[in-house]
Order: sequence, then C-alpha cells, then structure tokens
Amino acid sequence: MLVSLDNVTFGYSGVPNVENVSFSISEGERVGFVGGNGEGKTTLLRLILGELVPDGGEVTRKNGARIGYLEQRGGFASSLSVYDAMREVFREDEELIARLHEAQNGLGTASPSALPALSSRIESLEKRIAARDSYHYDVRIKTVLGGMGFEDRYTQIVDTMSGGERTKLKLCRLLLEEPELLILDEPTNHLDIKTLFWLEEYLSSFKGAILVVSHDRYFLDKLTSRTLELERGRLTSYRGNYSKYKILREERFKEETRAYEKQQEEIAKLKDYVDRNLVRATTAKSALSRVNRLDRMEVLEKPLPPPRPPRFCFLTEEKPYERVLEAKDFRLEADGKTLIGRASFTLMRGEKCALVGDNGTGKSTLLKFFLSGDGRVTLGRFVKTAYYDQENADLDPEEGVLDAFRSECRLLSQTDARKTLAQAGLFAEDMDKKVKELSGGMRAKLELAILEAKKGNFLLLDEPTNHLDLPARESLEDALSEYDGTLLFVSHDRRFIERIATSVLYIEGGNLTYFKGGYDDFLAAQRASKPVPMSTKEKKTDGFRSKEERAREARERARVREIEKRLEELEREDAELTEKLVLFASDYKKLMEIAARQEEIRKETDALYSEYETLI
Ligand SMILES: Nc1ncnc2c1ncn2[C@@H]1O[C@H](COP(=O)(O)OP(=O)(O)OP(=O)(O)O)[C@@H](O)[C@H]1O
Ligand SMILES: [Mg+2]
Repeated sequence: MLVSLDNVTFGYSGVPNVENVSFSISEGERVGFVGGNGEGKTTLLRLILGELVPDGGEVTRKNGARIGYLEQRGGFASSLSVYDAMREVFREDEELIARLHEAQNGLGTASPSALPALSSRIESLEKRIAARDSYHYDVRIKTVLGGMGFEDRYTQIVDTMSGGERTKLKLCRLLLEEPELLILDEPTNHLDIKTLFWLEEYLSSFKGAILVVSHDRYFLDKLTSRTLELERGRLTSYRGNYSKYKILREERFKEETRAYEKQQEEIAKLKDYVDRNLVRATTAKSALSRVNRLDRMEVLEKPLPPPRPPRFCFLTEEKPYERVLEAKDFRLEADGKTLIGRASFTLMRGEKCALVGDNGTGKSTLLKFFLSGDGRVTLGRFVKTAYYDQENADLDPEEGVLDAFRSECRLLSQTDARKTLAQAGLFAEDMDKKVKELSGGMRAKLELAILEAKKGNFLLLDEPTNHLDLPARESLEDALSEYDGTLLFVSHDRRFIERIATSVLYIEGGNLTYFKGGYDDFLAAQRASKPVPMSTKEKKTDGFRSKEERAREARERARVREIEKRLEELEREDAELTEKLVLFASDYKKLMEIAARQEEIRKETDALYSEYETLI
C-alpha cells in the first residue's frame, strides 16, 4: 500500500469540501480521478501529499515512499538551462561515475598492498553503476525532452519559458525521477496532440503507480483501470477506465434511484397505516410496531443527478467593418529564434478561425502580437477585441471574485454581475473567495464570465478549454458556435476545433498557412499533400532548350523523383523508429541504437533536401 485515506474530512473554512473519504492506492495501480470543477480533486491530492492536514480521519503514506506531484498550474522554476535542470536528477549517477574514474586512475599509482581494496571498490562501483544504468542518463534525458517537444531548446534557461512550457518541464523532471507514485493534476492541458500521444505511451510503460486527474476521456481510457469520482464531497471508486466508469455510474444512479423510490413507497405505506390505526384501540399495537420500524429504518438519501452544467453566452453590441484584422508582412521572433518568417494574414468578419500548431510554434505569441498595437497590424473600424489569456494571468490572485469581475466590467449592476457569474458556475459561496482560492476550472470560468461581460465583437481565445470539466467544455462549444462575432482561437482539443472552426491558421516550420474550411477538411487536405518542401525558386519556363539541356532536365526530373521517394522512405523509417523509442523506453542499449540510426537518417535527409532544392 502506497497511500491510504481513512474517513478523511476536510474544509477550508469550516464547511467540509470532502467528507468521510476512504480509499487507498497500491503499488503499480493506474487510477483516474474525475469530478466537476471545484469538487475538491486538487484538495484531495494535497491531503494525500500532506500539504493539507485533515480536520478528521487519517492519511497514511508508506514509509519513505517516493511521491512525485505535478501541480495543476505549477510550473518548474530554475535558473539553469533546460538540459542542466534535467541533469540534476542524475547527480548521484554522475558522482558514481566520477568516483569510478578516480578509482581507475588510482590503479596506476597505488601500492601493491592497496590494490585489492581498490579493485574491490572499482567492482562495487561498477555494479552500482550498472544497476542504476547510470551511463545512459543522457539518452533518458533526451528521450523525455524530445518526446515532450524540447529537443531544440536544451540551452534555454528554464525561467525564461512560458507557464505552459514550465509545467511541461516539471513533468519531464518527474518522468526522469521515476517516483513510486506519480500524482498528476491535469497533465494534458497545454499538450499538443503529438506530445499527448507520446505521453500516453510513455506512461503506459511507467513502472510506478499513477493517480491522474483529467478531463480528457481518451487519455484516461488509455491509461487507467480504476476510476475515483468526487461529487458533492463524496468519493466513489469504480473498477474500470473512464468509459467503463460512465456505464457503471449510470447503472448505479438507476439502482440507487430504484432503491430510494421503493423505500419512499414503503415509508408512505407505513405512515399511512400508522395515521389510520394509531388511535384505534384494536390496532394501536400493530401501529406502534410500525412506528418503531420507521424509527429504526435507515433512510436513503435521494440520489441527485449530476450538477447543472454552466451556461455561457457571448453577445456583441456593434458590427465592425468587414476586414476585422489585417497583418501585413510581419515576422515573429522570440529569444532570437524565428517563430514565423514573413507572413501576412487577413481575418474577415464572422470567421471562426482555429490557430493550430505544435507546442512552442508561437501561437500565443502570435495572438499577443495581433493585440499589441504594432504598426503592421490593423484592426477594422468598430472592432472591439476581448482576449482570453491561457494562464488567466491577468486576474489578480489577491482580489475577491466579485471585485475581480466588477473591476473589469464596471458598468454591470451587482445583480447582473452575480447572474453572469452564477450562470458560469460561480455561486454565492464563491463570491467572497479570493481569486487564488478558486480551483483551476473555477478560475477559467471567472475569466470566461469576464469575457462575456466585455461584449467584444472579436474574441481572441488562448486555449479556453484548459481546466474546464466536460459539461463546461460542451457549454462553451455551444456558446461559441452561436456567437455572431469574429473568433480567433487556439486549442488542442480536436473535438472542440471541429465543432467551431470555419477556417484554420496553421503554424509549422516557421510558416503560417491559412486554410479556408473546417478542421476535418483541413486534416484531410494535410494528409493528401505530399511531404515535400515548397519550392522557393521559379521554374524555368523559357521556350527553346537545346538537346543537352532537355536531356539534363530529364535526368534532373528523374533524380527529383528518386529523391522524393527516398525522402518518403526515410520519413517512414524515422516515424517507425520514433514509435519504437517508446516501446523500448527501458532498454537503453536499444535506445542508443535507435538514436544513432535516427541521426544517420537526419543527415541523409538534410543532404537530400539540399540537393533537392537545387533541382526544383
Ligand atoms: N486555499 C483555499 N482557500 C479557500 N478555499 C479554497 C482554497 N483552495 C481551494 N478552495 C475551494 O475548495 C473547493 C475545491 O477546490 P479544488 O481546487 O480542490 O477543486 P478541483 O476539484 O481540483 O477543481 P478543478 O477541476 O477546477 O481543478 C473550491 O470551492 C475552491 O474554491
Ligand atoms: Mg483542480
């Protein structure tokens, strides 16, 4: 047993947030943890970790158990470079290797009498190094950093990175530390689809136990075999992954409702009998026995359906001119690195454009650039922007909820403010809380409520579904598909993008590409297009060519086809190897071989592309 909770009760302000909770987690178990925003999932995790002390009951942790915790909004802080920050995990391995080298160097100068001791020391060091697999820490670091999308960023200082990136780096550290229990609070926020798949694979071969809070059902289904649900302060454990849990939960609700109704009928009958017979001398005795039965009865609570989902509604006041945003001939850079090389972009009124691209390609930077007032960006007349920040960083953590809302929307009456907040899922008991006391999802809901009240006719949203529970996500989808303004939004949630986007803006390899059409069509178009680079040179189209020239061109065309074929082969092989990397995550010899082959492939690909560019 790694941790166990026995009848734990806890509340931040006297009123319990969780009540009489009992459960335990054993070695190697995979547990999903679900529940609506603000139910107390993060709170329960902090109780497990000992960061919070229960008001009643007991939390027990296995002696010396190594527990790793990824906080919901907790980034990693370090003044070291990305690579060095990961290397810290292997300090002991480095020390062992250094000691071994020292001992080996000592062999030459040691006196004969000291030799046996020295050689047994070397042997024991070698054994420890082999057992810890110390020599391969570099491969392990690179596998994890590469998988999480940091392969070109080894030298960047951690503290200069965005909140999302630092959360991902914290996760990298935890994966390298390999704790016995890995507690993850919404690890998939911020992850692009590629990284998400990688993490799923990596975690499925992870040896320790996992307790993971997530609102991503695919992720949970893939990873977990048990599901804990927290609802209205009560914790229930279900055998099975998320899909199984949904079925079991539904069955349980029906069963409980049946049992409750049956008991209510019985109670009504007994009461009726008592009412009619208690005063009659002949039947008073049997009536009294029924009164006793009623008294002894353990009355079932009425099973409640899931809480009502929030409602969002984004209204506009004025219609802007047709060209809502025009950005001409701009480049985007960060830390001297080009994110987007020369691009232009126009967004027309009524468009709902999804901004997509892998982690770190510059989506947030692009949104902020559009809002920056830079001379190369023109907003149309009567355009009123409203921005949703990915980190909700524009909210003051010390401010009260109602004040935070009203300081953004001064014109709204107290009643309207309360109404908007309540519809978003923030109720009377939350009004006096400080922003920092809100759960992750509640903070996102507050920011969405502020966004509603701003009545912008051009919304720029940076990952608005992060932290939201499923019902809230669906409500947001409904509201945005009904919205009659213009929308530019970043999301990694495929379903969400599919439902809303009418066009797609795509960042890849420093290029910005615009696609008119829905996300499904965009993905189909991407699959259909060949993975060859765009030509940067004009094709020669002059009329007369000599025989030699034509022969040379024919040779070149043949070579181009050859190169294209080879590039495809290499790309396929590379993709297969990347898949294998995950399969062999614990076999470092194999990993080294794969890494070496991938390096060869990269070199050959580079050389082929250089030749290719001279031919097309
Ligand atoms: N430091 C605090 N002081 C007072 N109340 C708090 C504090 N932290 C959390 N709460 C309250 O406790 C409740 C549970 O919060 P918690 O963060 O555990 O929810 P959660 O289930 O993790 O939600 P989410 O899915 O949104 O992350 C919420 O009502 C929240 O406002
Ligand atoms: Mg939480």
